[in-house]
Amino acid sequence: MANAAAIEKTEKLLQELRVYDGSSSTQAALIHQLDEIRNSLQQPREIANYYIKKGLVLIIINTCVELGVFDAVLPDTPASAEDIADKVGVDASILTRFLRAPMVEGFFSLAAPDGNKPQNPPSSPYLYRHTPASLSLRGLPAHTWWRTALTLPMSRFWRTPDYIRSHSTAELQDSRHNALAWAMGLESEGLTFFEALDRDKQYAGFWWSAMGMAEYGFGSFPWAKLWEDVSRKQDGRDRVFVVDVGGGRGKRLVEIIRELGEVKDKEPSLKPMMVLEDLGGVIGGETPVSIEGVKNVVYDFFQQGAEQPVKGAHVYHLRHVLHDYYDEKARQILKQVVDAMRPDSRVILCEYIIPEEHDLGHEIFPYVMDFLLFLAGGLERTHRQWQQLLDSVGLEIMNIWPSKDGHPEVDIEACLKDTKPERSL
Ligand SMILES: C[S@@+](CC[C@H](N)C(=O)[O-])C[C@H]1O[C@@H](n2cnc3c(N)ncnc32)[C@H](O)[C@@H]1O
Repeated sequence: MANAAAIEKTEKLLQELRVYDGSSSTQAALIHQLDEIRNSLQQPREIANYYIKKGLVLIIINTCVELGVFDAVLPDTPASAEDIADKVGVDASILTRFLRAPMVEGFFSLAAPDGNKPQNPPSSPYLYRHTPASLSLRGLPAHTWWRTALTLPMSRFWRTPDYIRSHSTAELQDSRHNALAWAMGLESEGLTFFEALDRDKQYAGFWWSAMGMAEYGFGSFPWAKLWEDVSRKQDGRDRVFVVDVGGGRGKRLVEIIRELGEVKDKEPSLKPMMVLEDLGGVIGGETPVSIEGVKNVVYDFFQQGAEQPVKGAHVYHLRHVLHDYYDEKARQILKQVVDAMRPDSRVILCEYIIPEEHDLGHEIFPYVMDFLLFLAGGLERTHRQWQQLLDSVGLEIMNIWPSKDGHPEVDIEACLKDTKPERSL
């Protein structure tokens, strides 16, 4: 029977759904199984067509986002095509045509004016009512996220085949020949992805707003336990507790401070010193970062002769910084950290560890991220690649702290080789 495989997979999925624990890693596995069921019902040609159709729907949804169609309908008040058309400035006869495909995908549903479902033949006029999917694209935060993740990079990254064809292998792995700078016509200036991003103020604005609101994964390194240990010693209290290198607008530091709350409540006079380091345009500029208990330090780790401004901190934390670069540049950043470390300092890298080739798992995000990083001039690393990179600058991995909620990010805890800090955590 042609659908025997689909039936078998569906039965397995049903069993697993009954014991679903709600974690994001299990959710990824379940959705992966749903995709496999769909694949097993399709001919190979239909599998490709499926992605083509989704790509075209994406264009329509993008049109709706950009025209403000999702915003034109209030969350609890269905609206007629004419009302929406008036608000977005597109004729209703055109609007209703391109709303059909998103509706099949669950964006908006149709209701009769009295709130009942339309009859067959449908009563007129229809009203467009929000669904959870269409609501998720309503409002500025949704637009910001959509534009950052899709609209703004898409026009540039759609040209990836040309980028690849016109560059040597060495150039493709050089962060100063990245696809963004190339697509912006800035490659000759040798800009990194972030330097190129900074040249497009609109994209950069959306980028930083979106990063501020992104769902944030990290590992389970026990910050409170470490602070409890080091703050008992006078010498420990006098040193900076955490330096967040390339910390963006300080989101992880805020999380760490929240985690330390418990310890601080026991002894409020003990205040950990925290430092946020990033480029001036990121932490300063028109709206400088201001987090209570955190000192901002402008630092460009690629500036000629740069050195880590904070010496002897307990922890040097880098989240999603090293994945932006291949080993040579990553080593340049790490060496500055190593030179500033004391024997008992730690490095915490919050990153993905992608599985070796034969075991890809169910979560697609780290691989999609790896592709985006390829375009930006960086890469996601396997455990072996992290080990090699750290080893090459005199560091060794002490522990890997997985995320508590099934996010794919982990905290990689490393120390100077042969001078391990106390292992009481
Ligand atoms: C992918 S973001 C990660 C931000 C933050 N750690 C987080 O997890 O949200 C990489 C960060 O590295 C910073 N960065 C890029 N080039 C830098 C440089 N030359 N010196 C210091 N920071 C830099 C960027 O501004 C950005 O904040």
